Amino acid sequence: MKFFIDTGNLDEIRELCETGMVDGVTTNPSLVASSGKDFKSLIKEICTLTPGHVSAEVLATDSETMLKEAKVLSDIADNVCIKLPLTMEGLKACKVLSADGIATNVTLCFSALQALLAAKAGATYVSPFIGRLDDVGQNGCELISDIASIYDNYPEFDTRILAASIRGPQHVLDVALAGADVSTLPPKILRQMYQHPLTDKGLTGFMKDWEKTGQSLL
Ligand code: G3P
Repeated sequence: MKFFIDTGNLDEIRELCETGMVDGVTTNPSLVASSGKDFKSLIKEICTLTPGHVSAEVLATDSETMLKEAKVLSDIADNVCIKLPLTMEGLKACKVLSADGIATNVTLCFSALQALLAAKAGATYVSPFIGRLDDVGQNGCELISDIASIYDNYPEFDTRILAASIRGPQHVLDVALAGADVSTLPPKILRQMYQHPLTDKGLTGFMKDWEKTGQSLL
């Protein structure tokens, strides 16, 4: 499974890329707004920090303008992935970009039928929003397994399932079990995944016992 990080915070991206666990970055207009940075400069800088896909979202709602914006964004760097909303206009633009070999991430997916449309439009990734579905009393992880089953039925589909709106480590486990190809994680959640109290306890015990030996390896 690939891990992307879902943030516009350059310090976090720099630090987490050094762990070797980060395969790409996703952003959205809200994350760009909270970064306080110029959109194009931000994407340019993120693209230097990871060789993986960096999702940058169009702002227009009509396909013609989306395609113009996509051109501006994809000219920033080779690893930019154009993020498009799951609307009729977004999928029209997706189809054109996919035919041109440009990576796309279809976002704001909340149903398996929408994911089916995204795959038919040739999307590189489809982003089901797990947490936001849970928030309204639906089961986000069930959506991931439904999409995985559908895509398995049609080997001609090449679209990867990118689980988004992840709210905690349990979501990461659940979407991995349900068949997601990628999870995009807020930085805090990637950090939490390393943690287990028994790891800390065990390490403290080993260090204490090692001290008693009086030895040093280096
Ligand atoms: O980037 C899309 C998605 O991950 C947003 O998550 O927490 O705003 O629902 P959230």
